[in-house]
Amino acid sequence: MPKQTIRDLDLSGKRVLVRVDFNVPQTKDGAVSDDRRIRAALPTLNFALEKGASLVLVSHLGRPTGNPEEDAPFKLDRVAARLQELIGRPVKKVNDTVGPEAQAAAAALKPGDILVVENVRFNKGEKKGDPAFAKQLAGLADAYVNDAFGTCHRDEASMVAVPEAFPAENRAIGFLVEKELQILDTLLGKPKPPMVAVMGGAKVSDKILVIENLLKRVDKLLIGGAMTYTFLKAQGHSIGKSRSEADKLDEANKLLELAGSKLVLPVDHLMATSLDVGAETKVVEGSDLPDGWLGLDIGPKTAAAYGEIIKNAGTVVWNGPMGKFEDEPYRNGTLKVAEAMASSPAVTVVGGGETAEAVETFGFADKVSHVSTGGGAFLECLEGKSFNSLKVIPDR
Ligand code: 3PG
Repeated sequence: MPKQTIRDLDLSGKRVLVRVDFNVPQTKDGAVSDDRRIRAALPTLNFALEKGASLVLVSHLGRPTGNPEEDAPFKLDRVAARLQELIGRPVKKVNDTVGPEAQAAAAALKPGDILVVENVRFNKGEKKGDPAFAKQLAGLADAYVNDAFGTCHRDEASMVAVPEAFPAENRAIGFLVEKELQILDTLLGKPKPPMVAVMGGAKVSDKILVIENLLKRVDKLLIGGAMTYTFLKAQGHSIGKSRSEADKLDEANKLLELAGSKLVLPVDHLMATSLDVGAETKVVEGSDLPDGWLGLDIGPKTAAAYGEIIKNAGTVVWNGPMGKFEDEPYRNGTLKVAEAMASSPAVTVVGGGETAEAVETFGFADKVSHVSTGGGAFLECLEGKSFNSLKVIPDR
């Protein structure tokens, strides 16, 4: 059922609390290293401002521990500064979330003003979903908009108890959440056939539920990344010293049985003697891999075969890199899949932090149909889960 959106709210002269997901990647010293999630929120923020609203922006950043020294890089100052550059108007940032500074700044907002309150996870009530904390946060504004797709799988206060503190007619989703849900609806509803899923990453255990749910819908499931070696080991092959999950062989076997010929494993592997970037490498064909070597990327034949399948698909969803792509020698498989996604006429959807980062780094983000801003949220949607954060937003 479509949800009430920001278009349905009366915004003129109102203070609108927008829950955004500005949990962006940071450099070691805390600078914003990828502002994609901030850019993705701009359509909602600009729309509200054009309609005469003022904004109270609420986000988390990282996973603060409560130790002020450790948590310092998670303050939202640099995120607010980046937003100011991107949105091209002043952004005020305060040092508390619901305290006197935030209350005074929210009360002083005029139409067109933007306020960023401090990292919502600096407050214990956020994680606990505490209704008293939620009431304080909700007290800063007249209406609530959830545009934090990446956080929709969390039941934290700002995602569930805060919207519940507003009358139903004053709660909505923003354009980013709307778009992400529409794409997921296409993937899980009536995808254009043939439908292909590309699953990579290190662990089968992270993807069991996704694979189970997708197998009902896909024609082909292409496997890459270190999870390949758990599947090969489960089939009884030797995998050298490749990374695998020895305690997940039964699960891997169940998935292999369930999938039958839909599940496609690599036919060749780029292997190395160690994880070191300068280590000796070689391409090994087949499914039995030599002792003393570990697989760090799909091989060139696999990359070409996967590329063909992707180019001839109607719909492709991709989650998880094909190898250790952050190191140049092991980048090719992930790059080739990204290239095939970019040049395929199919509906192409990329999701998950690392995969999105890879597509962005290779310069293909604008050439695929959609790059999700969700990591865990995207995967849980693919698993078929529904979220409390969306249940509290009324249907249209
Ligand atoms: C994410 O990056 O997946 C979201 O911002 C949620 O963050 P979390 O995993 O720390 O809850």
